[in-house]
Amino acid sequence: QKGGYKHFMLKEIFEQPRVIADCLAGRVDRNSGRVILPELEAAEVPERLFIVACGTSYHAGLWGMYLMEQWAGIPTRVEIASELRYRDPILGPGDTVLAISQSGETADTLAGIHLAKARGARVIGLCNVVGSSVAREADLVVHTQAGPEISVASTKAMCSQLALLTLMALAFGQRKGVLPEDAAKNCVPGLEHLPAALDAALPGMRQRARELCRVYAEARSFLYLGRGLCFPLALEGALKLKEISYIHAEGYAAGEMKHGPIALIDPKFPTFALAPIDSLYPKVKSNLQEVQARGGKIIALTQPGGDLDVDHPWETPAAWGPLASFMLLPALQLFAYEMADYLGKDVDQPRNLAKSVTVE
Ligand code: M6R
Repeated sequence: QKGGYKHFMLKEIFEQPRVIADCLAGRVDRNSGRVILPELEAAEVPERLFIVACGTSYHAGLWGMYLMEQWAGIPTRVEIASELRYRDPILGPGDTVLAISQSGETADTLAGIHLAKARGARVIGLCNVVGSSVAREADLVVHTQAGPEISVASTKAMCSQLALLTLMALAFGQRKGVLPEDAAKNCVPGLEHLPAALDAALPGMRQRARELCRVYAEARSFLYLGRGLCFPLALEGALKLKEISYIHAEGYAAGEMKHGPIALIDPKFPTFALAPIDSLYPKVKSNLQEVQARGGKIIALTQPGGDLDVDHPWETPAAWGPLASFMLLPALQLFAYEMADYLGKDVDQPRNLAKSVTVE
């Protein structure tokens, strides 16, 4: 059942190259670079988008917001479902709600759908489980096709959510005629390159994660930092570490560090930074210098061509622009996995957690 892996989580992390390939199958036309999402053909391009989700799916939604704005020019908000349901949001006919859920059974996300429908908004579901409540209750549904996810810690489902959010932003941008040229030219080839590149990289990533977790196993708390698309990934890295290794971790927008968390930095409080070589790289680099000036130890996920002088640089393979996230995410997952396994925790069934949160 575990396919020779020690845990379902590890198996599911290693399935991600296949998950990306399945998300793309039949959905991109290599020659024209066009995205084919028949599920959304009946839908107009949203004028305003509210993404509603919980946990890891919420982090995927936050990540998707950047592409919806940048590639499709859609004003987008991302809402924690348990907050949205008790607010009085300005939401009505003409608005689109995108509900993201692996299980399709999360009570708060379903309540968000009910609220949206009651107010006349259109609901698109992005979910993994076919026939689930989200799939049934949404007006339109896009399936992430990641296959059953058994481990409580969500890994491959998030990868598939990011892949579909990328395709949706591309499709909306193409239909509106606002897709930036760079994305129009490079995104589809970049996506197609991912499965093989990630497949080749995963064993080495696991090895690096094993080494690093032994160095940092004494830490009682971690600060995860990222900017732009790497801010939601920082939140996700921290969530993964918390939920399976029980080490406290906080994800923060790197630029917010100086507004409080910097006070915590000392040699016993390590920082896990996300520092791909993008337009925000110089900014992240200077944040890391601030950490070092206070004696903080740093693990930094980066890419070839970087020049970070930190305790533990961790190079992930090159990928075009935002697609770097597909290389960074498994490294975060593997670090949490190896840490939890090293500390002898119950990786697939962490205490106090359920796979589907069907109560509020
Ligand atoms: O099934 P959903 O995507 O709606 O689940 C949402 C969260 O409960 C879920 O992502 C949770 O945070 C995971 N345990 C994270 O690994």
